[in-house]
Amino acid sequence: MSQGMIPITKPTIGNEEIVAATQALQSGWVSQGPAVAKFEEAFGEYVGSKHACAVSNCTAALHLSLLALGIRPGDEVITVSHSFIATANSIRYCGATPVFVDICRDTLNIDPATGFAGAAQLSEVAVVAVAMFE
Ligand SMILES: Cc1ncc(COP(=O)(O)O)c(C=O)c1O
Repeated sequence: MSQGMIPITKPTIGNEEIVAATQALQSGWVSQGPAVAKFEEAFGEYVGSKHACAVSNCTAALHLSLLALGIRPGDEVITVSHSFIATANSIRYCGATPVFVDICRDTLNIDPATGFAGAAQLSEVAVVAVAMFE
């Protein structure tokens, strides 16, 4: 990485992940397969849910979670503007409008003091919070 760059994420890929990915490729299951079902079951158990649904990426997960919350065309969803475009896109995919709010200078996350100041004026409100630069 070049000097002066601020890494927004640092992936942790160890031998366990490399072995699991290799096993999946070697199994011939490159879409839904037994490993996905096993992951869904383990994840559901971990979060204490009867059901869990694996999706292909974070964009799909955000989209589905907003649909599950009942976000509909005309709704307004609070989020931040300095996230990856998928954050705002997932709101738009529901036909809703992203409402970008202030972030805190120290944490770069939604500023709890000012970020929700205009929320009372919004029609239907949800928040997609993004934890940045941890
Ligand atoms: C905050 C945030 N949300 C969503 C995404 C989209 O993830 P994906 O590429 O898995 O759809 C990213 C990708 O970097 C992200 O940083």
